[in-house]
Amino acid sequence: MKLSRSSMPVVLVGFLSASFIFHASAEEPANPKSTAPAKAKASEVRTPSLRTPDYIPEAARPLLRKKMERHAQDARDLMFGVTLLQYDAAKAAAQRIASEPRLVRPIVGGEDDLNALLPERFFVLQDESRARAQAVAAAAEKKDDKALAESYGRLVETCVSCHSAYLNRE
Ligand code: HEC
Repeated sequence: MKLSRSSMPVVLVGFLSASFIFHASAEEPANPKSTAPAKAKASEVRTPSLRTPDYIPEAARPLLRKKMERHAQDARDLMFGVTLLQYDAAKAAAQRIASEPRLVRPIVGGEDDLNALLPERFFVLQDESRARAQAVAAAAEKKDDKALAESYGRLVETCVSCHSAYLNRE
């Protein structure tokens, strides 16, 4: 009796830590979804991102980010689709880019909106990139390799121009 009473706390502690360990390992499968993948991704496939310029307020960043987060995947799919002449993949990626929801030009009275902070060129290039992405999709559809290369080049020009307009606000 004496022995069992004194060993009781030990048993309890043992049980608690066992359950803690169990709990911790049960949590593990959820982990890769939160912090782990970012790290794993960073070392494997680095997800490229664009610096956020100072004129964009903190509050507007999640909105822009959400809108632009598919760029990286679409850009990769398009690049491989075009360069490896995988017409269906190229066409699908180009169509996704062309049909992306667009930011509308600032409206009267909406001077405080995010849209009002962006330079006019941003909206011009937004329209241009849409038209150029459609041209890439059309070239992929026709399996016209020369047109595919040229239209892709023209599309990428607008990508770079818009990132430049955005960063430099001009
Ligand atoms: C109308 C302007 C505009 C055009 C055109 C445009 N982008 Fe972007 N892109 C942006 C902005 C703004 C951001 C930054 C969003 C942010 O702050 O997270 C961005 C971010 C990105 C990112 C980083 C994504 C991330 O998650 O941080 C990639 C990759 C990208 N763009 C690729 C492209 C490619 C490829 C094209 C052409 C097919 C393109 N963009 C065309 C405005 C544009």
